[in-house]
Amino acid sequence: MTVGDMVGLIRDQTRPESAPLTPELKMHMASAITPLWRATEATLEKTGMPPPYWAFAWPGSQAIARLVLDSPALVRGRRVLDFAAGGGLIAMACARMGAARVIAVDIDPIAEVALALNAKLNRLAIQTSHHDIVGQALREIDLVLAGDVFYERALAQRILPWFHQLAKAGKTVLVGDPGRAYLPSTGIEPIATYTVPTSMELEDRETKDTTVWKVLAD
Ligand SMILES: C[S@@+](CC[C@H](N)C(=O)[O-])C[C@H]1O[C@@H](n2cnc3c(N)ncnc32)[C@H](O)[C@@H]1O
Repeated sequence: MTVGDMVGLIRDQTRPESAPLTPELKMHMASAITPLWRATEATLEKTGMPPPYWAFAWPGSQAIARLVLDSPALVRGRRVLDFAAGGGLIAMACARMGAARVIAVDIDPIAEVALALNAKLNRLAIQTSHHDIVGQALREIDLVLAGDVFYERALAQRILPWFHQLAKAGKTVLVGDPGRAYLPSTGIEPIATYTVPTSMELEDRETKDTTVWKVLAD
């Protein structure tokens, strides 16, 4: 799939809209999950593309983005990574509130294209990558933010020790999570909780209480 095909898929299947908790920012979002999932599935069979997580602002990223928009001192002048960025809502909130540098990384190549389009839509400067950086020391980063990353056992098992190492190295590591299955029960402390409006179709609930947690050194 070429970058042009990806831009076409994103533009065909989404509309620029704001997530409920972040009216200040717009992103290319799917209003209904089914048609997009089908469109991506057709491509998926041919290319092994993952599901289109990037087309939704998951509760975890909405909570962190809200925290950043309300507390700019958290990011102002700092070098920030939005890890597993999806559509890049957290990255956009950081760029809007004066972070010195914002990098958004997601291993899904379509997410990388979507988040670049989203940054442009909001006239924000965000560096993007789809490389797998798990385990790296991130010497150029002060703050690591990750929305909704504890939904899958294998991913959780890989990132948790890495997050603790980064915290031990003096970085601030915050995760936003609505109580996913693999959220750890220790080694994190709550910073803020938000009630995030969600759709029955995506979450089987009309709202999800979502907490921003600080990852401790151990
Ligand atoms: C549930 S989505 C969350 C997206 C966004 N952070 C949000 O909250 O809206 C999880 C994302 O993790 C990404 N992901 C999974 N494994 C990853 C890895 N090793 N490195 C970077 N991103 C990864 C997926 O591609 C997907 O976009």
